[in-house]
Amino acid sequence: MKTILITGGAGFIGSAVVRQFIADTDCHIVNVDKLTYAGNLQSLASVSDNPRYRFEQVDICDAAEVARVFREHQPSAVMHLAAESHVDRSISGPADFIQTNIVGTYTLLEAAREYWRGLDAERKAAFRFHHISTDEVYGSLGENGFFTEETAYEPNSPYSASKASSDHLVRAWHHTYGLPVVTTNCSNNYGPYHFPEKLIPLVILNAVNGKSLPIYGKGDNIRDWLYVDDHARALRLVLERGEPGETYNIGGWNEKTNLEVVQSICAILDELHPQGAPHSQLITFVQDRPGHDRRYAIDATKIAQDLGWKPQETFESGLRKTVEWYLQNTDWVQNVTSGEYQNWVQKNYANRSMA
Ligand code: NAD
Ligand code: DAU
Repeated sequence: MKTILITGGAGFIGSAVVRQFIADTDCHIVNVDKLTYAGNLQSLASVSDNPRYRFEQVDICDAAEVARVFREHQPSAVMHLAAESHVDRSISGPADFIQTNIVGTYTLLEAAREYWRGLDAERKAAFRFHHISTDEVYGSLGENGFFTEETAYEPNSPYSASKASSDHLVRAWHHTYGLPVVTTNCSNNYGPYHFPEKLIPLVILNAVNGKSLPIYGKGDNIRDWLYVDDHARALRLVLERGEPGETYNIGGWNEKTNLEVVQSICAILDELHPQGAPHSQLITFVQDRPGHDRRYAIDATKIAQDLGWKPQETFESGLRKTVEWYLQNTDWVQNVTSGEYQNWVQKNYANRSMA
């Protein structure tokens, strides 16, 4: 029976990965999460009582605690998703990004290396450290071309520079110490349980509440969108079948301008939530993000050819599911927007051990 240690499992993508592992496999999952503002245990309510799920409230920068978690749970693999993830926050306050994304990754790598050195030959060969990263490490594209696994790193924001640093650390721990690592670089995710500071959930909730829909600059920046459950399936496949030392780009072949994304959300809401239609009247062009990357687009050929992955959702089907989810899950939305979600752990775990 495999035990997977997942960092950042209370976040947007991490919680999707945890829910999938519990639903679709017999793996044991240890979720290691500090519960920053972005961590929400309510997103894991459907698995929290499962005997194969354990939660450890641990900061990945805390070397002693991270070592204890490895000792106690004896994982067969690590999937490292814990990070500060929001570009705007990295511009207004980069310190946490340097700490968690760089120092935290270093701390986790050292704990993993120490643990891996002590495994018997069979478990040592099977062990994997899967680092989950972003397409933003490659910088910004012009009108044409795609990011491949060979594209040179050119990170532009404090966020992407911190993620690029962590990718380099992971690479070095493989090259120097032989730690069996795999790295994935993915494009923009969207879907249920997404914290409403990011474009898609922010626009859905603002539109439902009759608030303005802020679009940076002219709205012509381009992102390549992938439904979060498709990303989670890709991550599980890379963990299972990826070659140690390799990196895999993951993307949805779904390039859209930000204005197109917002207009699509408005059109779906006009149909599903006609109060306030046309919602596009709420669109407001605001000051651009400093250093705003122009275009991201992933060439996902390698993961398709080598591992047989392809996304199940189109942008249209995934976006509709996402809007429906936000309209139906008013309790989750209410707890997040009021800040009550940060008390959810105390209320729901008051008389139970965390594990
Ligand atoms: P998120 O912000 O929703 O979640 C991050 C999680 O990490 C939270 O649960 C938070 O509590 C936890 N965390 C933060 N600092 C921690 C620390 N010091 N110790 C332990 N836990 C800590 O992020 P996300 O959008 O789910 O992204 C997950 C990963 O995927 C990140 O590494 C991100 O760089 C990468 N990624 C995200 C996207 C995207 O579109 N969201 C795309 C590509 C890659
Ligand atoms: O490309 C992968 C990255 O995608 C991940 O590594 C990051 O963790 C994730 O946050 C995301 O980064 P972006 O900066 O692309 O996501 P965000 O949702 O913040 O912004 C998407 C686009 O929309 C971007 O061009 C900025 C723009 N935007 C964003 C917000 C929050 C707006 O126009 N208005 C807004 O209010």
